[in-house]
Amino acid sequence: MPLQPNRRSFVKSAAIASAAIALPALQYSRIYGANSRLGIASIGTGGKGWSDLTGVAASPDVEVIGLCNIDSSKGHLGQAAEKYGTARKYDDWRKLLDASKDIQGVLVSTPDFMHAPIALAAMQLGKHVFCQKPLTHTVHEARQMQLAAKKFQVTTQMCNQIQSHSAYRTAVQIVHSGMIGKVKEVHSWQGGGTAWPRHIPRPEGSDPVPSHVRWDLWQGVAPERPYKQGMYHAFNWRGWQDYGTGQLGDFGCHILDPVFKSLKLGSPTALTATAPMLMPETWTDRATVRYDFPGTEYTFGPTIRVTWYDAVGAAPNRELLSDIPAGTKLPGTGSVLVGEKGTLVIPHVNMPKLFPEAKFPADTIPVVKEVDHYVQWADACRGVGKTTSHFDYAGPLTEAVLLGTIGIRFPEQELKWDSTALQITNHAKAQQWLTKPYRKGWEPTWI
Ligand SMILES: NC(=O)c1ccc[n+]([C@@H]2O[C@H](COP(=O)([O-])OP(=O)(O)OC[C@H]3O[C@@H](n4cnc5c(N)ncnc54)[C@H](O)[C@@H]3O)[C@@H](O)[C@H]2O)c1
Repeated sequence: MPLQPNRRSFVKSAAIASAAIALPALQYSRIYGANSRLGIASIGTGGKGWSDLTGVAASPDVEVIGLCNIDSSKGHLGQAAEKYGTARKYDDWRKLLDASKDIQGVLVSTPDFMHAPIALAAMQLGKHVFCQKPLTHTVHEARQMQLAAKKFQVTTQMCNQIQSHSAYRTAVQIVHSGMIGKVKEVHSWQGGGTAWPRHIPRPEGSDPVPSHVRWDLWQGVAPERPYKQGMYHAFNWRGWQDYGTGQLGDFGCHILDPVFKSLKLGSPTALTATAPMLMPETWTDRATVRYDFPGTEYTFGPTIRVTWYDAVGAAPNRELLSDIPAGTKLPGTGSVLVGEKGTLVIPHVNMPKLFPEAKFPADTIPVVKEVDHYVQWADACRGVGKTTSHFDYAGPLTEAVLLGTIGIRFPEQELKWDSTALQITNHAKAQQWLTKPYRKGWEPTWI
């Protein structure tokens, strides 16, 4: 099925579109610069959104103007409203955007399935966007985010913030310095398991919606379903296909990030997953995805294989890692890059290690300092410096991750990917999963 973007808009799209034409981002940059404060709004102020908001607002050049949450309780809207007392408060992000003349940047920290609908609408109004990982819920949405950022010339950053830690920056520098030579294969894994629901059927019945929760607004573009306490909002939405992207979607944009950054990977050409048959509505509790990417200046040969593993205790086969002594424990979560001259282990959020150890004494490893992923975006919006996880980078990374989640739906079947055409060329059923239906009245306005 070729992708037919639905051009019908949702709430006030005409107003949004015309406002976007009337005041594009370029015009903001004329009236607004390094000496001005950046007015921001946070959509999804609880959970990870709290540290997104406080992280960006840590910049003295940022003013918090708007706060939005479908849940008014203390842990969600409440604490943000308390800390940023002068900010306007909303339960509906569409109303916030309708009244956003004085807001230049929008933070999108909602569950995955609402990232693109909100961020696209914000970019169409010329707002700079800081958006949680994975960038989107579908591959088509990820491509749309890239197109929108380019079209409206806004400053963007995906929040795979570990990219800016010393650990991941050092790993990237090690590969670029040539210490391990050209990379021959990569293994990345998430072996920690997860606390959220997986591989279960939908619970029966419904529970009363708490008075502080706007359940209809939480559901947004997703198909309607009854409220069940603790099953979806908050946090546990991850395990449900309608809302989240499973374990690969949850961790892939972190763990695969130093692999993409260091090897300068773009789009895979093919992938094959191994996984149990999915339940109709939840994600699996274990999967392996083998990706093939075109080679780059940092890889050995014309293609490079990147294998992803997730499950409790998941890890690559040690026989493939001959540089690492048998007694050396691999990190619970991370990546291994096997190079011509050595092997690089990148633990998730920990300093990288090189093997064989005798060849790479610790004091020969060049440590790269961390930068502030949150303030980097705020500064870049003001014309100071650039972001490193802008949507031109985060879009293809997210597309690869989400293609893996499509592969999980079709175990042991190779999917061939034509990135330019946005087509899974050999599998019509898999192609359908590049996009999804949107709830009537909530259809995004596509680029
Ligand atoms: N970068 C990281 O390290 C990291 C860590 C955790 C979560 N995340 C990402 O952050 C996002 C949120 O995850 P979470 O664990 O915080 O989820 P959560 O459900 O705990 O929190 C989401 C917050 O957004 C609010 N919300 C939900 N829908 C909304 C809407 N339509 N409008 C306004 N507010 C809304 C909720 O009430 C809640 O306060 C996800 O995309 C997740 O993948 C990233």
